[in-house]
Amino acid sequence: MTTRQDCLALDAADPLAPLRHQFSLPPGVIYLDGNSLGAMPAATPARVQQVVAQEWGHDLIKSWNSAGWIDLPTRIGDKVARLIGAGAGEVVVADSTSLNLYKVLTAALRIAKADAPQRTAIVSERSNFPTDLYIAQSLAEQHGMRLVLVDSAAEIPTLLNADLAVLMLTEVNYRTGAWHDMRALTRAAHEAGALTVWDLCHSAGAVPVNLTGADADFAIGCGYKYLNGGPGAPAFVWAHPRHADRFWQPLSGWLGHASPFAFTTDYRPAPGIRRYVSGTPAIISTAALECGVDTLLAAEPLGGMQALRRKSVALTELFADLAEARCGALGITFVSPREADRRGSQVCLALTPTLAHASYAVVQALIERGVIGDFRAGDPSRLDQVPHILRFGFTPLYVGFTDVWDAIEHLYDVLTREEWREARFNQKAAVT
Ligand SMILES: Cc1ncc(COP(=O)(O)O)c(C=O)c1O
Repeated sequence: MTTRQDCLALDAADPLAPLRHQFSLPPGVIYLDGNSLGAMPAATPARVQQVVAQEWGHDLIKSWNSAGWIDLPTRIGDKVARLIGAGAGEVVVADSTSLNLYKVLTAALRIAKADAPQRTAIVSERSNFPTDLYIAQSLAEQHGMRLVLVDSAAEIPTLLNADLAVLMLTEVNYRTGAWHDMRALTRAAHEAGALTVWDLCHSAGAVPVNLTGADADFAIGCGYKYLNGGPGAPAFVWAHPRHADRFWQPLSGWLGHASPFAFTTDYRPAPGIRRYVSGTPAIISTAALECGVDTLLAAEPLGGMQALRRKSVALTELFADLAEARCGALGITFVSPREADRRGSQVCLALTPTLAHASYAVVQALIERGVIGDFRAGDPSRLDQVPHILRFGFTPLYVGFTDVWDAIEHLYDVLTREEWREARFNQKAAVT
């Protein structure tokens, strides 16, 4: 059985441990919610201050050229590309995940309609993040198609047939942390004559992603989780070069035009991924996103995403083992896949049915103790299949082994002392 002493030794020997100094985390906090909002890089306040005071305040509109504002979406897109197995010039940062999904799913549906008009199904998972399902519902309606949802990933192969237009999946599930095999599913979808759209919100910066190696078609993801870009950071979008020039994306704004400053009446899309920029980039938050992406690129000399993944697996394995050993008898059960290679960088727990009503309050009591994770509500009508979840994300850039040990001890205390019964922990806030 691992001891706290062992964890201290693991931290002391961890070559990635110095990367934590890139963040300014409040003392006494064990932050296990980087899968929802990444921690603030120490460099961000000064960079934002520079953009506001110098580039905007002093240099004014000249900064579009002199500070390179106009190129931020592609310049930072190139940095994100290094984390997701895409090439330079293939990624832009812009807008939100939801908007970028709208753009790429429309492009994919148009390609499908042009190449194989008889295909009418968009296939996804019922447990996909709601925004993905809502955008797909809207587009299915607009394009005369159908959104078909599976309850388990095992059903996907049965739907890879002549009716399938687009397989739209989130690589790492937001509720369970289950990690799809992007390469195998993309190959299977292509063999069935369909395209793939991947949501990388819980995989970019969390696990090694290789879009080119998987031969995926389109991908999108957010900047505020593992990329540490800050609340509401711009998202990113990738289209395989074989598709990037085929269609306009539907939000064909002026900055995606081939010559925006010609101010012509008619839209002519910029070549390649640049057309996926719609309007004026949010410069302050895009600059902050760069600080976040840089915290991951700083790991490149230490082995990059592969090294971060090794540490992430060690952290999540330790958390899972300790959760079972210390809290298994107290009603804690495991929701994420138990096999590390089927799991992203998060571990989701649940409470046995008799204690399930305490799930939200347990997370609140942990937060009060400085262990920040989050709660994701289950489906009240079928809690056996979609339970309330206690969700813990592990960002190896700033989470250590002793943090894991201490977090589990806090969970043990909250459960044994029944702190979750306190009324203040049972008051639901607007954001869970
Ligand atoms: C898988 C996934 N997709 C999309 C989103 C959110 O989309 P947006 O960034 O547009 O709010 C989330 C947010 O948690 C998510 O987990």
